[in-house]
Amino acid sequence: MSSTPPKTDAEFEWTDAYAMGYGPMDETHEEFVQCVNAVLQASDDDIPARLEELAQHSREHFAEEDRWMTETDFPARECHMNEHAAVLQSVSEVQALVSQGHREIARDLARELARWFPGHTDYLDSALSHWMCKQTIGGKPVVLRRDIRSGKIDELLAES
Ligand SMILES: [Fe+2]
Ligand SMILES: [Fe+2]
Repeated sequence: MSSTPPKTDAEFEWTDAYAMGYGPMDETHEEFVQCVNAVLQASDDDIPARLEELAQHSREHFAEEDRWMTETDFPARECHMNEHAAVLQSVSEVQALVSQGHREIARDLARELARWFPGHTDYLDSALSHWMCKQTIGGKPVVLRRDIRSGKIDELLAES
C-alpha cells in the first residue's frame, strides 16, 4: 500500500497574485497555502496531524477576518462570514471522516480548498483588504507583484 500521494496535481503554492496588499492578511494567506499544501503532500500516517493544523489555522484565519469586519463595521460582511463558516463546517466534517480511517478525503478537501481560495480572495478578501488599508493608512493598497513569466520583461521593455 502506498502512503505517499503522487506529486502531480498535488501542489498548491503561494504566488504574488494572491497578495492583496494588507500585510497581516497576506501573511495569514501565505500560511493558509502552506497548510493546504501540507495536507496535499502528507503521507496517510501524517494526514490527521496536518489536517488538524489546517483546521486550527482556518479557525484563527477566519475568526481574524470576521473580527476585522465586525470591529470596523465592514458593509455586506454577512456573505463573507457565511463562506468562512461553510468552510469550517466542511473541515470538521472531513476531520470526523478521517478519524474513521478515510484519509483520502482530506486530500479531496485540500484540492477543493486550493480551487476555492483564489476566488474567495479575489472577490471577498480583496475588498476587505482595501477596506482595512483605508482604515489603517487612509488609502487603497498598492500591490507590487513579481511577474516571472519568461518574456514578460522583454514585453514590458518593448511597450515602454
Ligand atoms: Fe482570508
Ligand atoms: Fe475571507
